[in-house]
Amino acid sequence: MSREYDADVAVTAKTTLDAQRLRADFPIFEQTFHGKPLAFLDSAASSQKPRQMLEAMTHFYETSYANVHRGVYQLAERATEALELSREKVRALLNAPSAREVIFVRNATEGINLVAYAWGLSNLGPGDLVVVTELEHHSNFVPWQYIAHRTGAGFRMIPLDDHGQLRLDELDSIAREGNVKVVATGVVSNSLGTMNPVDRLAAWAHEHGAIMVADGAQSAPHMKMDVQALGCDFVAISAHKMCGPSGVGALWGKAELLERMEPFLTGGHMIRSVGVDDSTWGELPHKFEAGTAPMAEAVGFGAAIDYLTEIGFDAIERYEHELAAYALDKLAELPWVTSYGPPADRRAGIVSFNVDGVHPHDVAQVLDFEGIAIRAGHHCCQPLMRKLGVAATNRASFYLYTIPDEIDRLVDGLHKVRKAFG
Ligand code: ALA
Repeated sequence: MSREYDADVAVTAKTTLDAQRLRADFPIFEQTFHGKPLAFLDSAASSQKPRQMLEAMTHFYETSYANVHRGVYQLAERATEALELSREKVRALLNAPSAREVIFVRNATEGINLVAYAWGLSNLGPGDLVVVTELEHHSNFVPWQYIAHRTGAGFRMIPLDDHGQLRLDELDSIAREGNVKVVATGVVSNSLGTMNPVDRLAAWAHEHGAIMVADGAQSAPHMKMDVQALGCDFVAISAHKMCGPSGVGALWGKAELLERMEPFLTGGHMIRSVGVDDSTWGELPHKFEAGTAPMAEAVGFGAAIDYLTEIGFDAIERYEHELAAYALDKLAELPWVTSYGPPADRRAGIVSFNVDGVHPHDVAQVLDFEGIAIRAGHHCCQPLMRKLGVAATNRASFYLYTIPDEIDRLVDGLHKVRKAFG
């Protein structure tokens, strides 16, 4: 890396975040792949796991494990307390007004489906509009498209400009096409790293009497999230992208909306009473938590939140901006590489690119032999790929354990790709 940037990162590391030191918390980096140290540049797909989180899950299984909200014995009460403590940690992470509004789900996708089914099926119909974005991940696109088709509502996308940013100048013409009832957007694009103006979209949604649904899967791991400041009605996040385990996420929703909604999944725990002819539903959040909860996973989620909070979300965000800027500068030096998306100051730590004439899967495979893990494909964003005029891209994504040397290795690896396929 350049001396100038070297100095920059060194200063940042001293005052904010020391990625090299943090890597020691992550056992995965003790291995080699193809004889090389792992350069894990695929954290937007899923993050690696620190020992602190793994130990919290093991400790829960070893000392506090029983089914929650059911037993009256001490062990079950301990397990329930651990689960509810994690719910409180999610509440604090999101600055949600109440832990009753935090529902444990499998992942952000399930959280969005919950809203699409439980709110959408009862509130949408012909003449209504569901508005998503052209850079949306399929998980905040397909559920809405599906429910719009089921209910007869219209479905529109806010288009992108040439820098991968939302064209807010199109909002008025979209609103003329029907009653806007849902506006759904990611806070950060998983493909381009674009940071979307969610607060402005939320204000626009509310002007039209619509609900605002934000997919926080790519923002919650990397920056401070404040659902009240964003002005959303629902926000969905996944633990596995933020140093937590797979299989758990959270949906936050405004209590007054959740209370009026029908359940999504039915069965054990979510009921108040069950008769032969009818059943009634429990209070929030239990109404939306059918079946045995992801207990140890929720505990791991809480430990991951502690881990990230201790490092500091401001420091994480700043550090990732620097990495993205460094990567974009380096890629710009390669005339045979095309990068997509906004400038570094308007994106999170995600960089999508293509190497002229080489399929992204071939690029990723050559890099794998160098011990470098990136994602290649459509990134669950086929409408965006169509807009970019490509079938797929390569994507390098960064996290608090990414070091600039790994970006240098990526660039060296791309030279090898060029040589192999040149
Ligand atoms: N949503 C994940 C990604 O962007 C899987 O790679």
